[in-house]
Amino acid sequence: VLQCLNLASYNYLGFAASLVSGSSRHVSQQDNQLDQGRGVGCGDDDGQTKVSVAAIEGQCDAQDVSSTTATKTPSDNERCLLSAIETVRRFGVSASGSRTDAGTLAVHHKVEQMIAHFVGKEAAIVFNMGYATNSTCIPALVSEGDLIVSDSLNHASIVVGCRASGAKIKVFQHDNCVDLERILRRAILKGQSRTRRPYGKILIIVEGVYSMEGEICRLREIVALKRKYNCFLYVDEAHSIGAIGETGRGVCEHTGVDPADVDLLMGTFTKAFASVGGYIAANRDIVDHLRRTSSSYVYDTAMSPATAQQVISALEVLQTESGRARVASLRQNSILFRSELKARGFHVFGDESSPVVPVMLYYPCKMPAFSRASLQRRIAAVVVGYPATSFLSSRIRFASLSIYISFLIGV
Ligand SMILES: Cc1ncc(COP(=O)(O)O)c(C=O)c1O
Repeated sequence: VLQCLNLASYNYLGFAASLVSGSSRHVSQQDNQLDQGRGVGCGDDDGQTKVSVAAIEGQCDAQDVSSTTATKTPSDNERCLLSAIETVRRFGVSASGSRTDAGTLAVHHKVEQMIAHFVGKEAAIVFNMGYATNSTCIPALVSEGDLIVSDSLNHASIVVGCRASGAKIKVFQHDNCVDLERILRRAILKGQSRTRRPYGKILIIVEGVYSMEGEICRLREIVALKRKYNCFLYVDEAHSIGAIGETGRGVCEHTGVDPADVDLLMGTFTKAFASVGGYIAANRDIVDHLRRTSSSYVYDTAMSPATAQQVISALEVLQTESGRARVASLRQNSILFRSELKARGFHVFGDESSPVVPVMLYYPCKMPAFSRASLQRRIAAVVVGYPATSFLSSRIRFASLSIYISFLIGV
């Protein structure tokens, strides 16, 4: 098994069990030959100093490896793991039923209360997948006669949810509030295309941090437009919850927006929380409505008890000194990683403190070469090209971490 520093998965806060071996599944035979030749340490074939993953791992075991925090990462992570194991012992592996069908357990109530409190909303509802959260809740919120105004780079789960809703969909240019306002103004002036009746509801959907671009959305401007045109606002915080804002409370905290100004705060547990599942936090009426109408809540088997417990444990850690230090360290590492890449001549997209760090390769033919070169240096990252990006904006996407980055770039 080839061991790599895993900058491919979204383990932003370092909660996942292994930070270094996650990419073994992606390793080809050719890469295995490398392993046989050199063992786990990074290659030094072009004379440059590279970080040895084995060395990093050793340091991690000893104590926190970040140059900026004093967190005791292993013990917090171990506590999360032991709680998950204990939950499996008490409740079993599966919830064995949908939430409305005897699948609701005490851990589900607890995670809902904790997430609502954490993001500053009255109530929350959790689902077994982030994908299912978007794809089944959007159709429960809007339907024929309503309008969705969606950012052009919104995630596939949002696109599927919008299409399934039956509402009219208009797409605005990515992160462009002028275009957003143009569409809103027109929709209100002209109404529905055939009947000219006013739309029932208008729902704006954006993401907190865009997973291919690394941009943090312009929430203040979007909230101002939502108020001006009396719309509803849905923000997908998959990549922002736990990862940005001073205490990890996401894009509202980062931009200084009151969570009351965002009608629906959606998020996933697969990134910063190193678990599985999704949530929507909103006022109690909306959450109660979703409990009755989201097909995932009614027909899907509920979140497994251990994954719910992992979210509870991660939220507990996040609200301690060491959890806050992880968030601060992630921010510092993201800024450092980006600026060091730029200093080395790379074109890097995204906001400086965003944990998503896309490095532009442009030409599709560079993708395999860059991927292989990264693996040779024992770094796993995701290369992304058409159709996920336009043909000439291929890129490699690194997910920043609260630890390791300073080791990686040798500062
Ligand atoms: C913005 C966004 N929303 C939703 C999802 C789906 O979440 P999950 O993978 O937890 O099902 C993702 C997954 O990457 C995402 O990036």
